[in-house]
Amino acid sequence: MKAIILSGGKGTRLRPLTYTGAKQLVPVANKPILWYGIEAIVAAGITDIGIIISPETGDEVRTKTGDGDRFGANITYILQEKPAGLAHAVKVARPFLGDSPFVMYLGDNLIQSELGEFLNSFKEQHMDAMILLRPVPNPTSFGVAQVDDQGRVLHLVEKPKVPPSNLALVGIYFFANTIHAAIDRIQPSARGELEITDAIQDLINHQTHVEARQIEGWWLDTGKKDDLLEANQIILDTRLKSDIAGEVDEQSKTFGRVHIGTGSRLINCTVRGPVTIGNNCYLENCFIGPYSSIADQVTLIDIDLEHSVVLQGAKMTGIHQRIVDSVIGQRAQLRAAPQRPKALRFMIGDDSQIELT
Ligand code: TTP
Repeated sequence: MKAIILSGGKGTRLRPLTYTGAKQLVPVANKPILWYGIEAIVAAGITDIGIIISPETGDEVRTKTGDGDRFGANITYILQEKPAGLAHAVKVARPFLGDSPFVMYLGDNLIQSELGEFLNSFKEQHMDAMILLRPVPNPTSFGVAQVDDQGRVLHLVEKPKVPPSNLALVGIYFFANTIHAAIDRIQPSARGELEITDAIQDLINHQTHVEARQIEGWWLDTGKKDDLLEANQIILDTRLKSDIAGEVDEQSKTFGRVHIGTGSRLINCTVRGPVTIGNNCYLENCFIGPYSSIADQVTLIDIDLEHSVVLQGAKMTGIHQRIVDSVIGQRAQLRAAPQRPKALRFMIGDDSQIELT
């Protein structure tokens, strides 16, 4: 059994963060989203993993993630020249996959459930494909499946105007080698992509064995800002362990689960967990409230912040209002005047969103 993780694509919905970096490397609780997928696959016993990368962000993904040693896996990088669809990515990965069955995992997805049990039923029942589903309130925004009471998939449709059910396809799929012939038979969709839903529908039309399972617990697709904040909240809530390696002075207080990385210094700060603070940060006169993740090399002075994600190297000083529900990009700088400012001065990147509330 092998796995491929899709880490190419355009990432338009997470702009401007994804102008300068891969969306799968955007951190959730200070760890790239992609790495959670790798860990889930390794935990299910699969160590031969191909990662699909794009020409624009592939080098960054490869440099940051490495050859798999840190995960106990063997990672092969597979270049997809254009984001021509999920089924196109499988086509590009064919030499890596050979005739092996495989898991396909979208690199910006996270689920609570473990994969092991799904993998076992896929193998034991000799399926051609198994998809994972979850009920959603807004099925028109997803790939949607119609399933019979035995769990067999009858019909799949991409972003339907009239959804046949409320069961959305989660970005995790299990395939036998028969998927390759199905991909060879399909044509690009109206949006010009080779759709994996069309390939699976083709398998169904050829009377092969395609089943679905519903996942329990949360499913996060970190494609947009609010999803990213929600993923951050859930991961901090469920997985963060207290660990204070950095230096916290006597005037500072921490409550609840707080992680502070090595080389970080906190002077006269209050931190109310769950909060994770990376390495080599400097925080002075700050209140850091629940569900905040602060990446490495961040400087915060006179800042009051909660339910927010601050990326590597950002610097914020003297903002005398609480910052909430915010994502601050890498190396971004935010400064305020000592008194109430007469004017505001900005240098804001394309597609940024600022709300003065
Ligand atoms: P999507 O979120 O469907 O597409 P996208 O990355 O282009 O994002 P956006 O809608 O914000 O523009 O892709 C799901 C995952 O699959 C994501 O991790 C990117 C990856 N992907 C590929 O690797 N190759 C592809 O051809 C496509 C379409 C996506």
